[in-house]
Amino acid sequence: SVVVITIDGPSGAGKGTLSQLVAKRLGYHLLDSGALYRLVALSAYKLNVNLQDEQAVADVASKLDVKFDVTGDTTKIFLAGENVTDAIRQEAVSMNASVVAAYPKVRAALLQRQKDFAQAPGLVADGRDMGTTVFPQAQVKVFLTASAEARAERRFKQLQQKGVAVNMEELVKDIKARDDRDTQRATSPLKPADDAVILDSTSLTIEQVLNAILAYVR
Ligand code: CDP
Repeated sequence: SVVVITIDGPSGAGKGTLSQLVAKRLGYHLLDSGALYRLVALSAYKLNVNLQDEQAVADVASKLDVKFDVTGDTTKIFLAGENVTDAIRQEAVSMNASVVAAYPKVRAALLQRQKDFAQAPGLVADGRDMGTTVFPQAQVKVFLTASAEARAERRFKQLQQKGVAVNMEELVKDIKARDDRDTQRATSPLKPADDAVILDSTSLTIEQVLNAILAYVR
């Protein structure tokens, strides 16, 4: 059967980087579930759909025309044929993604699409509710966390590298606002699965976290 490894946790804990590395090391597929919520937010914006209208946003989610184009280490993401790989990473989209992710109908609309990523030989699933809701039967569940300040710091460096002007205080505030929305929503709130291993990456390097995760897999 297909091996599923779930890596859940709050924004900026390093899930994206780690999930990619683990998937590469094991030759597994990768599900970036956050990208799906980002795509819903971006698509709703492009289609002029009111973000306050849950049903309308859920319709956008169920019709989402998305393609993940994987070549080697890079994944290009296409929305209705348009390359939106960079566009979905903008701060405004991050904010709106966490708004649409709070809608139960949006989460339901994306459920099967996510389950379909579980293909041989295995899958690394990155998100908030991979171990609790989407893949409750996963063989390995990791909950990756770090202090809000450490997470804001990482995001700050990432954005700086891209030449995006950012303010550290704003970033901490944004991260906390998203944490609140993610943990307080009624459907699939951000929390570790009962059988997840909790890893705090605040003072660990990427290499150390990678080795810890690979040790759980074995
Ligand atoms: O990279 P970062 O952790 O900042 O965000 P992301 O993983 O791309 O997810 C974007 C937003 O989608 C998050 O703020 C969550 O609100 C939401 N999300 C979710 O609700 N469930 C998931 N499985 C993944 C993301």
